[in-house]
Amino acid sequence: MASYDDIVNLALRRSLFYPASEIYASAPAGVYSFGPYGAAMRRKIIDLWRKELVHKENFLELEGALILPEDVLKASGHLTNFNDPMTQCTKCNTVHRADKLLQEKTGKEFKEAQSDVELTAALRDNKLFCPKCKGQLSGVRKFNMTVSTGLGAVTKTTAYLRPETCQTLFVDFLRMTKTMRVKLPQGLAQVGKVFRNEISPRQTILREVEFAQMEAEIFFDPAFIDNVDSFDAVADYKINILRTGKKETELVKAKELVTQKIVSGKLIAYYLARTQQLYEKYGFPTQKLRFRELDGDERAFYAKEAFDFEIETSLGWVELIANNYRTDYDLKKHSEGSKKDLSYVYDTGKKILPHVWEISIGLDRTFYAILDNSYRKEGERTWLSLPIQIAPMQAAVFPLLSNKPELVQKAQQIYKELHDCYDLFYDDTGSIGKRYARMDEVGCPFCITIDFDSIANGDVTIRERDATKQKRIKISDLRQTLFELISGIKKL
Ligand code: GLY
Repeated sequence: MASYDDIVNLALRRSLFYPASEIYASAPAGVYSFGPYGAAMRRKIIDLWRKELVHKENFLELEGALILPEDVLKASGHLTNFNDPMTQCTKCNTVHRADKLLQEKTGKEFKEAQSDVELTAALRDNKLFCPKCKGQLSGVRKFNMTVSTGLGAVTKTTAYLRPETCQTLFVDFLRMTKTMRVKLPQGLAQVGKVFRNEISPRQTILREVEFAQMEAEIFFDPAFIDNVDSFDAVADYKINILRTGKKETELVKAKELVTQKIVSGKLIAYYLARTQQLYEKYGFPTQKLRFRELDGDERAFYAKEAFDFEIETSLGWVELIANNYRTDYDLKKHSEGSKKDLSYVYDTGKKILPHVWEISIGLDRTFYAILDNSYRKEGERTWLSLPIQIAPMQAAVFPLLSNKPELVQKAQQIYKELHDCYDLFYDDTGSIGKRYARMDEVGCPFCITIDFDSIANGDVTIRERDATKQKRIKISDLRQTLFELISGIKKL
């Protein structure tokens, strides 16, 4: 099994991700960039989400602005409620997140929603001091995580970088109903960057200041929460649930989540199922996935019912998705804040304020979890056993020797002929062994090598990443063979 350090070392070695502005000592913590292979993988993770959820569920995907006026976050409640508990060292001034520090040092569970007084008492009872300099820690107070900016040349207007992609989905809901022929239930979706002033960013891309979300907000009429056309398709599908107060997960059929009243209705059970199915496509075995039911203390301020979707990694269970029943909280607050009626109007003239089921996916955490799940090491060989759909490229093309012009020319010719159809990578630097090793480490599923027999016989070798098995294929069959391998119709 991989360790966190193995993953980060691989990521840095291959520039999958790395600290942003790293050549400057003043670079802020918790901000990461993604190199060519990492960025390609990330795009494919997004594409699979788009295919499996956005397209199959007929969501409308939009691309909202990153900058929000203060009024949006006032109305949404973020300016008053979007807080983390902080404590500061009175000697070295380092700021720590109180609940996380307590959890780390005591091994017990502490929650960000616990009161400042309770957390301060816990710091004192457990005799905790600054982990950096052993100084005395201050009492706990709330710290608002929104990131603000001043707009305008002379008079500055305070604006905010969005803390979650979903706010534009709520703010733009009225426009969508007017221009996009929306019929409830209707999902709106968005992928993009968000910003949170994290007290102590750490664990690289697991707790960042700037990160990306893939969010879907499904707007529905609560009177019809059980009218889900495609429910039968998931009714017997088993979802891994960890109920509040329980230690063991249970596999529960989607229809039983409804009959046992674990969720408020079929729409919620349906989307829990579709979300778990997406992560199975990302390559995770079901036993590494769970929906942890949150109790009142743990739920976000806008959620009536919530499940954190967690994945077991080398760091333990990590939260990747917030699944929230946000009710009509957001549309109500934005109706009040904007003084616009955000109701949905049926053809009959009946008006309702829709409720919302939210699937809020952390893209960077998903990226980390996929690396963690696919990391393999045997002797000197390290590889990522990525599903083909999310590998940074579908195949690589190499000449066996880089100093033989006839091989280089043939390899380039094959690469050019196929790369209008496939997502290929060409490499003729270093020994063939090093090239295989580089491609293995970024999860490239197939390597096509052109050797002297290729010139004589018109064939090439294809090597499969996981088993390192090789097979000779006629160049004239390459296009079709690659199609069959990539689409999973055939194994090598
Ligand atoms: N939209 C919910 C979240 O960002 O956690």
